[in-house]
Amino acid sequence: MPAPIPAPSLLAGDHAHLAASAQAVAAAGAPWLHLDIMDGHFVPNLTFGPETLAALRRAGLKLFFDTHLMLSEPHRYIEAFAKAGADLISIHIEPAYDHAATLARIRALGCQCGIVLNPATPATAVEHLLGAVDLVLVMTVQPGFGGQSFRADMMPKVAQLDQWRRERGYAWHLEVDGGVDLRTVRDCHAAGADTFVAGTSFFKAVDRAAFVREIQGLAPR
Ligand code: DX5
Ligand code: ZN
Repeated sequence: MPAPIPAPSLLAGDHAHLAASAQAVAAAGAPWLHLDIMDGHFVPNLTFGPETLAALRRAGLKLFFDTHLMLSEPHRYIEAFAKAGADLISIHIEPAYDHAATLARIRALGCQCGIVLNPATPATAVEHLLGAVDLVLVMTVQPGFGGQSFRADMMPKVAQLDQWRRERGYAWHLEVDGGVDLRTVRDCHAAGADTFVAGTSFFKAVDRAAFVREIQGLAPR
């Protein structure tokens, strides 16, 4: 049974001091750092690229780099992110490219791989890939921006995926991303999620270590 994993998102950190923001995630005791990569095309916003990951590694960051590619052509950037120090690379199901080949390529480069579903995308859209991933990410906001309201209507999709995971014996992480705070994390956990991206709520928390501990204190799924 996977233990709960908090994955604070650097998107909500200080972009003039990204290494310091990532250090704050490590100092709070979180094992994962969620890195949101946006291309201004698949989503209407831009963030940072592989050079930022490489620079964070050079700065000494040892966190697990949970890399969320919000790109129309993610297959073109897999090598760059793997080389830059990504531990896990997640790609969206919505754009048209060879998803299975891209997931296999991520693994061949020594990284774990994940598949991501937008709010409008049903669980069935990724069903054929569930034997080939290390993580399934259910977006609980429309991707593109931090600080949006949590979509509780995504919980049946989380529950459906968790049911398939149990019935079919999969071992992937089931992650949620968007609007997750110490209240909504409980709904996600109850629905079956075990890995929790939190941007705004983590960086705004008065006691970030307590924030991390509270998530880690949820029961294993
Ligand atoms: C949304 C990103 C999220 C974002 C979550 O496009 O994928 O990872 O950082 O931010 P919060 O936690 O602020 O909703
Ligand atoms: Zn994300």
